[in-house]
Amino acid sequence: MVPEPGTAEQEVPAEQEDVHAASPEDVVAEREAAEPAAGSIKRVKSTGLAQGPGTPGIPKVDPILIVDNVTRNFGGVTAVDVNHLEIPRHAITALIGPNGAGKTTLFNLLCGFDKPNTGTWTYDGHSLAGVPSFKVARMGQVRTFQLTKALSLLSVLENMKLGAKNQRGESFWAALMPWTWKKQEIEITEKARDLLKRFKLDAKEQDFAASLSGGQRKLLDMARALMNDPNLVMLDEPMAGVNPALTQSLLDHVLDLKDRGMTVLFVEHDMHMVRHIADWVVVMAEGKIVAEGPPETVMEDQAVIDAYLGAHQDVDLGVVTGRIPTIDTKGSK
Ligand SMILES: Nc1ncnc2c1ncn2[C@@H]1O[C@H](COP(=O)(O)OP(=O)(O)OP(=O)(O)O)[C@@H](O)[C@H]1O
Ligand SMILES: [Mg+2]
Repeated sequence: MVPEPGTAEQEVPAEQEDVHAASPEDVVAEREAAEPAAGSIKRVKSTGLAQGPGTPGIPKVDPILIVDNVTRNFGGVTAVDVNHLEIPRHAITALIGPNGAGKTTLFNLLCGFDKPNTGTWTYDGHSLAGVPSFKVARMGQVRTFQLTKALSLLSVLENMKLGAKNQRGESFWAALMPWTWKKQEIEITEKARDLLKRFKLDAKEQDFAASLSGGQRKLLDMARALMNDPNLVMLDEPMAGVNPALTQSLLDHVLDLKDRGMTVLFVEHDMHMVRHIADWVVVMAEGKIVAEGPPETVMEDQAVIDAYLGAHQDVDLGVVTGRIPTIDTKGSK
């Protein structure tokens, strides 16, 4: 019988039990004590990420995220059924697959926005099973959404400030004593302004988020995620619906995250983008990982071609890579 999501017993293999040694609170405290990583600007594709040729579930040299036996069922539909997956650290990994493959559902599970029926996963050696999304973010694993999540009737700057962690003024009593949080508020505002400048949204800081274009909202989502000094940034279709004029800018920002020492896992349908920026590609179809590898080889994989052909019988396979088509997902979630 399929256990109910949220009530399912999370089976922890004996060899993984030590990952519970440090609690999420310990990880958060450790991160807060540490200085943010300094940026180094050098754009090279990472190689030698996996311990062997690309096959589904292959071990990575230095994984930041390890997923084991994670499944999620919606009624009769198995949206996610990932046997084993490792995401390489300090690299850009693209998660691709046809519509409905389970990419967003996997993001939701890994970030604590949804609960799996079965499975375990660790971030930086710490089990995240049962850890709520806000703690996952504080531990350094942040995500953006396929549909942008700006608060429309707050200004761009206010939206940014919402992304900062441990804001002292948020408690009821502290709110009545502004002198206890004024300094922190100034620091947060400065950090938000620096990021808005980097993302070329500084001219819009006082505008309602509602007034931003789709592409600018994607930029705002990404910038806001960085308010939390993440180690792992998970982007769900950062380029979808973005005006081509902003595409290059978004691409550069994704590359920049890696330059600054972060790990990126992003979902994308445009194979041009994937080829251009991904160090490693993971392919999902019908909830499973069907292929993995460097972009130049994985796109030739028969399982990948089959996965896309199964979903889009009428597409021209010669469109972008010579094998895999660009899938138009405008209007999808
Ligand atoms: N809340 C839900 N309730 C029921 N079914 C769901 C729910 N969320 C996702 N599904 C189903 O799970 C499957 C995977 O969906 P998911 O959104 O994860 O796919 P995806 O790979 O992100 O697709 P896309 O590329 O279109 O964004 C689909 O069949 C979808 O209909
Ligand atoms: Mg999706």
